[in-house]
Amino acid sequence: MIIKVKPLTSCLGNLLSIIRIEREFIKEENTCFRSSKSDISKCLKSMASVGLYENNKLIGFVLAHFTEYGTGYIEKVFVVPELRNKGCMKQMMNESMSLLFKNGVKEVYTMVSPENEVSLKGFVDCGFWYSWGTVYNGKKRLVLKRIDNEACY
Ligand SMILES: CC(C)(COP(=O)(O)OP(=O)(O)OC[C@H]1O[C@@H](n2cnc3c(N)ncnc32)[C@H](O)[C@@H]1OP(=O)(O)O)[C@@H](O)C(=O)NCCC(=O)NCCS
Repeated sequence: MIIKVKPLTSCLGNLLSIIRIEREFIKEENTCFRSSKSDISKCLKSMASVGLYENNKLIGFVLAHFTEYGTGYIEKVFVVPELRNKGCMKQMMNESMSLLFKNGVKEVYTMVSPENEVSLKGFVDCGFWYSWGTVYNGKKRLVLKRIDNEACY
């Protein structure tokens, strides 16, 4: 099995694949929201998002975008169930963070459900830390922030 992480380009095929994958696998909004079409498009256009590919088939992704103020956002991290707990999240996050920092980003935010322990652990291992709690779309969320540029371990 050949698995590669590559930048996600902005094209209809990628947009549709991400929508299809999220519809199939993301069912429980307490732990993870499905992405809106406009959020996916924004992240694909930013050129800071990456895909995980098995023989050219998309099996995971990090959706990220940034602003001209040097602030980046990780909107979504996803890995198909069969490949979880093998380090794919960290591999993709390293690539996406590197693209963000190359584009002048100085601080990166993400939002995680307090019930999503795996995701929380993954982000903390990638240098993110708790900033504040919030409620988004009626669900409790933690806002996490990363300010440096160290590789995930
Ligand atoms: C969250 C998610 C992206 C993690 O992806 P992953 O490739 O499995 O993550 P990694 O293998 O890089 O693991 C990250 C850490 O979490 C741990 N972990 C992963 N799966 C785990 C599990 N099922 N149970 C316990 N720990 C687990 C890993 O052990 C690792 O820590 P370690 O390096 O100390 O061993 C994946 O579970 C997923 O796609 N979930 C559904 C979507 C989601 O919830 N996304 C995040 C919110 S939008």
